[in-house]
Amino acid sequence: MNKKPAIFAHRGASGTHPENTMAAFEAAVRLDADGIELDVQMTKDGEIVIIHDETVNRTTNGKGAIERMTYAEIAELDAGSWFHPKFAGEKILTLDEFLTWATGNTMQINIELKTNKVPYYGIEQKVLELIDIYNMRGRVIISSFNSESVGRVIELDPYIAVAGLVWRIPREAVRAAKKLGLTALHTQIPFALSEYGKEAINSGMLLRLYTINDVKEWNRVKGSGVPVEAIITDFPERF
Ligand code: G3P
Ligand code: CA
Repeated sequence: MNKKPAIFAHRGASGTHPENTMAAFEAAVRLDADGIELDVQMTKDGEIVIIHDETVNRTTNGKGAIERMTYAEIAELDAGSWFHPKFAGEKILTLDEFLTWATGNTMQINIELKTNKVPYYGIEQKVLELIDIYNMRGRVIISSFNSESVGRVIELDPYIAVAGLVWRIPREAVRAAKKLGLTALHTQIPFALSEYGKEAINSGMLLRLYTINDVKEWNRVKGSGVPVEAIITDFPERF
């Protein structure tokens, strides 16, 4: 029988809280998730900040591209009100602030490098340095849709857990992952159930699935017998 998958709260418990904020991360702990997935970008002055989009427009009361903003400008923004007024005052966290908080719990941490649209020169090294400062290497998985970024992480630190992010069902994904020496892929259900999903598993790779919010859909995957190491969900309480 397959082992129960680990439950990662996607951008924190983002179905019920403003994504990638402390409110969402604390909720993930309360809801008994095993881990937290979060997204990182880099400011003009080199601060690693936790936010999904390349701009602050959707999830804050400000406007602008993160690569052209200083951290001081980002720190002024409200990252909670857009979701619900009761979350007014939630901030965009730095990765440093998040890791300080994480020293007080045992959550696994999936840091997604959002380098697929803006390359953010040097972000891989900075993230690895922070992980070491906080002694978190045993708890962290770094992932990215950008294979160059994934390759840079492996080059800088061959021992850190890394996963390739795969969107839809690209034919070349498993071949590319093998070439990079990856041992894990973060994919969607159709990939996991396809011949490529089988190929990845037969090659010894772990599959983690995003973003699983529908229990029926998850039951379909369970029924297929495909081994899944973790699911990444906006609603950890459903699983
Ligand atoms: O890491 C899985 C998932 O978060 C990737 O997509 O757009 O939600 O960051 P996205
Ligand atoms: Ca993500």
